[in-house]
Amino acid sequence: MSALLSTRGLYLSFGGVVAADNIDFDLQRGESLAVIGQNGAGKTTFINICTGFLKPERGQVLFNGQDVTSSEPRQLVHLGMARSFQLPQLFLDHTVRQCLEIAAAGRGGRLAWFTALSDAVDAREVDDTLALVGLRERADVPAMALPEGQRKLLDVAMALMLKPQLMIMDEPTSGVGSDSKMQLMDTVMQALAERQVTSWFVEHDIDIVKRYATRVAAWIGGRVAADGTPDDVLNQPQVRQEILGTR
Ligand SMILES: Nc1ncnc2c1ncn2[C@@H]1O[C@H](COP(=O)(O)OP(=O)(O)OP(=O)(O)O)[C@@H](O)[C@H]1O
Ligand SMILES: [Mg+2]
Repeated sequence: MSALLSTRGLYLSFGGVVAADNIDFDLQRGESLAVIGQNGAGKTTFINICTGFLKPERGQVLFNGQDVTSSEPRQLVHLGMARSFQLPQLFLDHTVRQCLEIAAAGRGGRLAWFTALSDAVDAREVDDTLALVGLRERADVPAMALPEGQRKLLDVAMALMLKPQLMIMDEPTSGVGSDSKMQLMDTVMQALAERQVTSWFVEHDIDIVKRYATRVAAWIGGRVAADGTPDDVLNQPQVRQEILGTR
């Protein structure tokens, strides 16, 4: 069976900076991939190309074997690729429940917009998804009133309403206190496992990487400098020296 997501020879530069330098990458179904690397290494650029937000100068992105290089982000969402952002993209004036209803209505396409949101969406599906991320009790609270950690969970819950095969998360724990990071990731990773969603997250906290990744890819200067099991990659001399700052 083909990989869930593959890239071939992806290349993109900004002025003189090569942000993606001929990247060949395969992500298999069921993996939990952590991408590590210093600031500016190209981790977000790679995500932006794979999710259709940036177009590469050269190379291809394949999703389930289909060439999606020139697809728009919205089309990729419909194909099963979901994404969360460093700053959650929520509907802050709406309640938590409404945020999930809006997300699900987007899944149904244009027609759903002519129906009242709560009619168009299965209430049980909303409740189940809220329960999965521990937000059931907060269903009627405006998104604006949630603390940062719960906003991140809401962002993930909205993505789950799209029934994704792949969830890409760019620094899911950024802006969350170090005491609640692990708990946040526990909830997120359990929810993704429960729904059998393949996960890919960018993370600077190596304890989180060790705990949740089945595979680690280390980015240096727009390239994949190391790729393998967490043990292998985190013990490589170049990774230790240039990313972890240890020897
Ligand atoms: N839209 C843009 N215009 C110009 N340069 C950009 C743009 N986006 C990224 N870059 C440059 O490309 C390189 C890779 O940036 P990118 O944001 O992908 O890094 P990153 O690994 O995600 O870093 P961080 O850990 O800080 O999020 C950097 O040198 C950055 O300055
Ligand atoms: Mg980034």
